[in-house]
Amino acid sequence: MSLKVNIVILPIVLLVCVEARIRIYITDTPIERIGTRLYKKELLTNEFVDAKELAYDSATRNLYFMHMDDLIQNSGRAVVNIITKDTMRINGIARNKATAVDQESGEVYFGSDNGLYKYDPLLGEAVNIGLYNMNILKIVIRNNAMYVIDANSHKIYKIFDHGSKAIRVGNMKAVLEFDVDYHRNIHYVSMCGVYCAVNGDEIVKNKDLTAVYHFISDEYTTFGVTENGLYEIDCFNGTAKHVADLNFSPRSIIFGDYGDIFYSVDSGIYQLKPISSYTVYNVKRNGT
Ligand SMILES: *[C@@H]1O[C@H](CO)[C@@H](O)[C@H](O)[C@H]1NC(C)=O
Repeated sequence: MSLKVNIVILPIVLLVCVEARIRIYITDTPIERIGTRLYKKELLTNEFVDAKELAYDSATRNLYFMHMDDLIQNSGRAVVNIITKDTMRINGIARNKATAVDQESGEVYFGSDNGLYKYDPLLGEAVNIGLYNMNILKIVIRNNAMYVIDANSHKIYKIFDHGSKAIRVGNMKAVLEFDVDYHRNIHYVSMCGVYCAVNGDEIVKNKDLTAVYHFISDEYTTFGVTENGLYEIDCFNGTAKHVADLNFSPRSIIFGDYGDIFYSVDSGIYQLKPISSYTVYNVKRNGT
């Protein structure tokens, strides 16, 4: 265990011109801007290589993820508490990358090339619980339902009976990445483009996007992260509107509580907190 002491507090000042006013934001940590919003940026951990597939449990404030593990020479799972910043490696699973938290129950699931795993918090271990013939590439839990991509077929399945039964959803093919939004639309990426299956059914091809690295959904909107920043996706008419540039290329990016954002890049896992709680000085500019 290491004790970290902040010895030097470096004020970082950012000037934003709003009409004839200058706003000065003063904080003791770096600031990140996304569109019109400003966030305080905080490092959660930089102990892990290639961290991705972030999944957050707001009840325990634990952020789970996959990383490349030296010991097992493959991809392991780990967890960082966003308050204490304590980290812990999770035993019992190697290979592949899927991680997911059931927001209702707080249960944590992982996927590997030999099926579905559930995290046992008492043992600090992942336990293989079913779908043994599936190569689970990605897990999404939304609206009390679990969905996975099986990398053997690159198709999407809905999971029933605690991981004992899988039924194919829709007729999406060659799926590489996906998300299910709060209205049961399935957003996905294949080799051929970006699509949305309205209510999991009728497939609409997106006219504006050819690739999306990650989807992030809140209750109202699904965003696509692309090499040109953040787009708001319309599932029904297959359009996307550019809403913000991103100054970083996330390996993974998700929403946390109260407008927080978590993301991982090569140098670590970061938390962005909306800046509204910080000191804001409004300075009237003379002569303009
Ligand atoms: C698609 O729908 C959105 C509203 O959800 C609208 O703003 C946009 O203009 C529509 N685009 C087309 C091409 O119909």
